[in-house]
Amino acid sequence: MYHIYTASFKDSNNDGIGDIPGILKKLDYLTGLGVDAIWLSPVYASPMVDLGYDIADYKSIDDQYGTMDDFRELLAEAHKRGIRILMDLALNHTSELHPWFLESRSSKNSPKRDWYIWMPPKDGQKGKKPNNWRTNFGRKAWRYDHKTKEYYYHSFFREQPDLNWRNPEVKEAMFDIMRYWLDMGIDGFRLDVINLLYKDAELKNNEFRLFGKSKIYNRNQPEVYELLRDLRKLLDGYPEKASVGEIYVVPPGDPALAASFLGGGADMLHLVFDFSLAFTLWKASSYYKTIAEYYRKIPESAWPCFFLSNHDIGRSVKRLFWERGKYAKAKLRAALLLTLKGTPFIYYGDEIGMENVPIPKRHIRDLYGRLLYPFFKGRDRARTPMQWSDKPHAGFSKQTPWLPVSEKYMSINVKKDGASVLHTYKALLSLRKKHKALQKGDIVFFNKGENNILAYSRQCEQEELIVLLNFSGRKKTYAGGFDTAKILFSTHGTRNPTVGSCPSASLPSRAPMTLRAFEGIILKRQTA
Ligand code: NOJ
Repeated sequence: MYHIYTASFKDSNNDGIGDIPGILKKLDYLTGLGVDAIWLSPVYASPMVDLGYDIADYKSIDDQYGTMDDFRELLAEAHKRGIRILMDLALNHTSELHPWFLESRSSKNSPKRDWYIWMPPKDGQKGKKPNNWRTNFGRKAWRYDHKTKEYYYHSFFREQPDLNWRNPEVKEAMFDIMRYWLDMGIDGFRLDVINLLYKDAELKNNEFRLFGKSKIYNRNQPEVYELLRDLRKLLDGYPEKASVGEIYVVPPGDPALAASFLGGGADMLHLVFDFSLAFTLWKASSYYKTIAEYYRKIPESAWPCFFLSNHDIGRSVKRLFWERGKYAKAKLRAALLLTLKGTPFIYYGDEIGMENVPIPKRHIRDLYGRLLYPFFKGRDRARTPMQWSDKPHAGFSKQTPWLPVSEKYMSINVKKDGASVLHTYKALLSLRKKHKALQKGDIVFFNKGENNILAYSRQCEQEELIVLLNFSGRKKTYAGGFDTAKILFSTHGTRNPTVGSCPSASLPSRAPMTLRAFEGIILKRQTA
């Protein structure tokens, strides 16, 4: 699954902003990469306060991204190439400019008043907020509306009022929107902050806690599970549709919570995002712990998924990485991501080793960064234009793009692949396509990350592929040994027989394997 941040993927009309026809032009690139599906960041009509996560019309395409015809063409062309499209849907909140909210705020007697969360000032005292809830961006979460002299609640920016999911009409309206897109032929949804939909019925104050879970009354309410069951029934009414839910937690993640949204494995979400892997420390044993814990937590019949980066948390190459060996580490992480049991999500540009880009204050577009500068500079650093070539603006656009292009684009781009990260992704994805064991096979860990090597195998029917990943910056030996195995892949290209303890194409019986610094290899066990 390939995650496209639409505004930054490819600009077709040279206004400096990526768009749907731009994606269309790059579908063949995605096919060549080996992508099966796209998660498209929000493209609906929006005032773009939160870059599309503030939706003003759920059944339209924003002008800056193109037209509905463009979208239909993209869908058809993607399907022709066997690529599926998942829409990104924010169910928790709308834009303050959505007609529902305009109607809701117009009067206390509005038929849509109860579609949002309105409260009078506490104890009727002017200026007193209904409770102590704060937004996920750290500010007070109630906004006073002078016209009707009440507060409305918003989990994110004040321009994104939260819907009241306790009102059945809200659910009906949102399900209608989902049907609209499903009827059009899209393949499913990435569901934004799905664990936030319900709030405590009495809107109780959150307890103050220095550490740990403090937001207990404005997220993870039990009612959401019932809703997800209904949502699954809706999706099951269509053939082969998928849902992936973002489970919004304080980093690093919460696998048990994420897993709970999978229900029994087939009655709620198809996939859930847990952030733990993205924040795992650079150590084989830490990776083992995170991954094993996630597998343990999800129901047996559910399917796992993994990601390393996204548009909120930043890019994999820089997070937790030091400069030394960063591209070798990026390749090793790719080898991990693409050989685990579960659907891998690749954030656009990670496949060429794009890094977070420092954004000068005057160029910051993310309101989150503008509000908190200089303590937090926003999320733009991981949303910069895709580096297609060494042409001006990295071949993304002929105009100055909406965010600065990385200074490294001359060498790190799709055409040049200066660090050969793209080559590694392609090789891994093609291996994944070729070997059922990598797609569907069970995973068996050979160790728990001892000696800073992670060793596991993927098995399916008669096929067994073995993965050895050296997280150390030094040469390391894996002493496990295998009867006979053939080396299919190394993150370091062809293996140098003088460094390894075996020739480049095959491994003699029960030989210990020596791996170079940050090397990852994939072997195929030979059956007699
Ligand atoms: C999570 C999205 O990933 C993020 O970009 C957005 O700001 C919030 N949800 C609010 O929709």
